[in-house]
Amino acid sequence: MNDFVFQSPTRFVFGKSAIERTGEEVAALGSKRVLLVYGGGSARRTGLLSRVEDSLAKAGVAYVELGGVRPNPEVDLVRQGIEVARANSVGLVLGVGGGSVIDSAKAIAFGAPAPCDVWDFFSGKAKVTKCLPVACVLTIPAAGSEASSSCVISNDELCLKKGTNGDAFRPKVAIMDPTVTFTLPAYQTAAGVTDMICHVCERYFSAAGPVPVTDSICCGIIRSVIEAAVRVSHTPDDYDARATIMWAGTLAHNDLCGCGRGASIEKRAGGWESHGLEHEVSAHRPEVTHGAGLAVILPAWMRYVWRANPDRFLAFARDVFGIEPRDTTLEETERVVTSAIGSLQDFFASIGMPRDFEGLGLSPDEVDGWVETLRENKGEPFGEFRPLTMEDARAIYLSCF
Ligand code: NZQ
Ligand code: ZN
Repeated sequence: MNDFVFQSPTRFVFGKSAIERTGEEVAALGSKRVLLVYGGGSARRTGLLSRVEDSLAKAGVAYVELGGVRPNPEVDLVRQGIEVARANSVGLVLGVGGGSVIDSAKAIAFGAPAPCDVWDFFSGKAKVTKCLPVACVLTIPAAGSEASSSCVISNDELCLKKGTNGDAFRPKVAIMDPTVTFTLPAYQTAAGVTDMICHVCERYFSAAGPVPVTDSICCGIIRSVIEAAVRVSHTPDDYDARATIMWAGTLAHNDLCGCGRGASIEKRAGGWESHGLEHEVSAHRPEVTHGAGLAVILPAWMRYVWRANPDRFLAFARDVFGIEPRDTTLEETERVVTSAIGSLQDFFASIGMPRDFEGLGLSPDEVDGWVETLRENKGEPFGEFRPLTMEDARAIYLSCF
């Protein structure tokens, strides 16, 4: 087990009565005026936003609003949010939504007190030292931003999608009511489930050897999510299944699944190869849902790299899908590994995710553009399970068609 630091300072308020507690939770953080950030309309339409507003008002918390965050959020709206936050001297940023909204809230929170342009934090020119507190009401279990140290923002002008990391902007409180996810379209539920499974896999397939306690948590989360997702696909308002998915999405990305698996004490576990590859696709094509891109890329990456450490994949096959080899020959190992990867891909497809890039309306002509910005974003080689050159990245992209 490698050395690690694990910090998950978020306070989680979870369950059917959570939304009505938003105001008092925010007030307890000492904020009397907040910026309320939300997305393209679902929170307003479902009545969630009014419940949050009522709860804030009851607790004596004043608010200004910024709506319209799109999926794969763009830096221009973040800049607008920073202006609103400064003009109103808000003391906290409250995101009501999913990863796109919460990441926008985070970027506003560290952009508002900064003397530079917020993109400087993503291009690497500036480091976050000051940050307004962030809180969130989670509406889609997926990105795990409600407890993560990451913030991912797109810059359409530069055709880039970049992340930055910092414990300073992990949300102080996350309000999580699984009933608000009953209204999710099946496609978004499935994309979220795919994303959280990928967050676990990025850490599970790090270069570290077995870490039994962490590995068991990883595989247990994936098994629970698969079982709950199947239930939700038949019964969208199955509370316990929705609750399982919601909590799993948080544990998948608050770094619990990486404890002891990092290359060094400072480094998050894993090489994040599938995320690196996917972010280029949704940077160039913002209409591609992050999780749907991953549903294609993760199995393709697995097929490309498994030979670098077959034992790791055999453990995955056994502990997630109960598939065991009959002997130790290379042919049998290959059968078991490819069958486990196939089972994962079949599961993604069964809940409505695409199997290939054609299913996302993408064309092989676009690959060169993705590789170019991937090189700029990640350098070469990148990743850790089996470090990837840009030629490897191109081959993985092309295998997705
Ligand atoms: O915009 P509205 O109208 O709210 O609709 C949203 C959006 O269209 C809809 N939705 C959300 N909750 C709903 C709902 N519709 C009905 N009922 C509800 N309860 O779902 C759509 C997707 O929302 P979005 O926030 O984009 O989804 P997600 O949480 O998957 O976030 C994706 C973004 O997070 C980034 C991704 O790259 C992407 O930009 N990530 C952030 C990470 C982090 N901060 O730690 C890690 C991830 O790996 C990921 O990269
Ligand atoms: Zn993700």
